Amino acid sequence: MSLPNKVKIVEVSPRDGLQNEKEFVDTALKIELIDRLSAAGFVNIEAASFVSPKWVPQMADGAEVMAGITRRPGTIYSVLTPNMRGFEAALAAGADEVVIFGAASEAFSQKNINCSIAESIARFEPVAHAAKEAGLRLRASISCALGCPYQGETPIASVVDVAQRMLALGCDEIDVADTIGTGTAKRVGEVMRAVTEVVDPARVSGHFHDTYGQSLANILAAMEAGITIFHSSVAGLGGCPYAKGATGNVATEDVLYMMQGLGIETGIDLEAVADTGLWMSQHLNRKSSSRAGTALAARKAA
Ligand code: HMG
Ligand code: MG
Repeated sequence: MSLPNKVKIVEVSPRDGLQNEKEFVDTALKIELIDRLSAAGFVNIEAASFVSPKWVPQMADGAEVMAGITRRPGTIYSVLTPNMRGFEAALAAGADEVVIFGAASEAFSQKNINCSIAESIARFEPVAHAAKEAGLRLRASISCALGCPYQGETPIASVVDVAQRMLALGCDEIDVADTIGTGTAKRVGEVMRAVTEVVDPARVSGHFHDTYGQSLANILAAMEAGITIFHSSVAGLGGCPYAKGATGNVATEDVLYMMQGLGIETGIDLEAVADTGLWMSQHLNRKSSSRAGTALAARKAA
């Protein structure tokens, strides 16, 4: 299959990128990160989580973050909502899209959201219903779609099964997530082809963590399977607290650089993103994980 002319990049650093930070990241810094990203042209930013602050303390300031950002017209600000309590908070905060998040692995479901896959779907049902009633977009994320830290390789049938259940809840978009980054291109192609047999490919996204350095290849394989939505995180920030050893999402700068080379439109200003990646890494006191971001900064400094 040929590659698309255009893709949508969902920037997840304010949520997935920061949720695992040990030191609390100031609310003002989170807000500035989101505002810089929206100014760079992202049409979808995952801004916060309305989850238990005991489970994920870093995301405890979601309401303040949402209240403090400057809304860019046309940008969808998404937040994670595991249950009705999270949904009510998301609605009050003016989220444009709520994200329910389940797993294709029973063990991960238990570790991440403390219930079985079936229980999670039952918990998501009222959230999905309420989101539709309120006219919000609804997205579902399927963790461990390629592999699980507790169960190993995930059977494709389990991913398809959860995707079908999420679709039945009325989801506008469904994320196939490689939480621990173990997936490789051939398998990604197989999983994406199987999922798009039951879900319109225009509604499926690829969410790849770069733990094994496979993300760009996996994105290419997913595009060849008809996928046109990808998640990424500036400077490659991130990791899931319930997936030990898993590193951040694929770096946005690297994805944008690849798309540019392929002549695929993103609508995003790579240079502005690279500057933001550098700025955020300095604030977090570390080197950027983005190869393209680091190279662009070196070129600028030369
Ligand atoms: P639980 O303990 O089973 O449920 O948690 P609970 O209803 O008994 O709640 C426990 C406590 O949390 C209670 O407080 C609730 O009030 C409170 P207490 O009575 O002990 O003081 N609580 C809440 N507080 C604020 N907002 C809420 C909320 N709900 C309950 N919405 C629960 C179940 C799902 C809440 C919990 O397990 C949780 O919050 N887990 C966090 C999961 C999470 O955020 N994981 C990381 C994001 S997912 C991810 O990174 C993967 C992704 O990137 C894709 C990929 O890469 O795979 C999306
Ligand atoms: Mg993730």
